[in-house]
Amino acid sequence: MQTALTKKLGIEHPIIQGGMQWIGRAELVAAVSNAGALGTLTALTQPTPEALRDEIERLRTMTDRPFAVNLTFLPTLKPVPYEAYRDVIVDCGVKIVETAGNNPSAHMPALKAAGITVIHKCTTARHALKAQQIGVDMVSIDGFECAGHTGEEDIPGLILIPSAVSKLSIPVIASGGFSDGRGLVAALALGAEGINMGTRFMCTQESPAHLNIKQAIVDNAETDTALILRSLRNSSRVARTQLAQSIIDMEKAGATIQEIGPKVAGAKGRKVYEEGDVEGGIWTVGMVQGLINDIPTCAELVRRIVDEAESIIEQRLMKLTGRSSVTV
Ligand SMILES: Cc1cc2nc3c(=O)[nH]c(=O)nc-3n(C[C@H](O)[C@H](O)[C@H](O)COP(=O)(O)O)c2cc1C
Repeated sequence: MQTALTKKLGIEHPIIQGGMQWIGRAELVAAVSNAGALGTLTALTQPTPEALRDEIERLRTMTDRPFAVNLTFLPTLKPVPYEAYRDVIVDCGVKIVETAGNNPSAHMPALKAAGITVIHKCTTARHALKAQQIGVDMVSIDGFECAGHTGEEDIPGLILIPSAVSKLSIPVIASGGFSDGRGLVAALALGAEGINMGTRFMCTQESPAHLNIKQAIVDNAETDTALILRSLRNSSRVARTQLAQSIIDMEKAGATIQEIGPKVAGAKGRKVYEEGDVEGGIWTVGMVQGLINDIPTCAELVRRIVDEAESIIEQRLMKLTGRSSVTV
């Protein structure tokens, strides 16, 4: 299944594993890339730019396939040395960068001078257009159903994806709510060049998330997510836990960022993924968990998605047209 995405990135299948804080480490990224999709290392999961350099080197011992590095620009409690992380990415000769959050324009000259393909992830068609104007190569568009930062406009993928495709001339990647071949075919039908998945890849054998988290994803329904930090205009879709509910209650009562901050601290989230206490901190997950029923290897998952997508096109869609998919 070749699209503008596979051709531009030199990958086999039009599937990306998006950046995931605490989860996007070398083991998962290598497994995704070795499966013929695109794995993405998450820069800020590494405590320092130097640690990112080591992680990129470690990753290179595990795969010789293309991979990306995610750099997320979002409000943080502690200032982040973004330039230093970016310089490590450039120095290490990384070829693909996924940016997310705020406008990446300050970093574009350095990234483009190094010949890096930049995929910017955003949540509105307006931001996607802006990203195109500042010279990114592709846009990942995250619908409201996505895990993590949903933006503030709440437009689901079914509208957002074709809206972005109609407005942009660069390739659009559909993100948020994808887990299987049905989703991939739907994304292609909406005009996207491929899919970006977070939650589905978090729930694989090679994902570093604790088994309790993976099992919670398998057990949870699509209704089991919550939107926190809306009052701070930093909305984030996370697992619907008692802790998430208590944060929403604090927000309703008018709590300030100083009061909420300690509850959502990254260090606590990290412990959840490492130790598996699902109530020990906030953890990120998308509505698509309702469609996830197993914990496959990345190779099994990618193969299954592609096989299912091809079979839907050949067995169902081609038949609907009354034409055969087989040309003799
Ligand atoms: C555990 C987790 C952590 C995430 N952390 C980040 C992040 O640091 N930066 C980022 O750009 N996106 C992050 N995301 C979002 C994903 O890259 C992707 O856009 C999103 O998961 C797509 O929605 P889906 O989960 O329905 O596939 C995260 C997602 C998950 C599940």
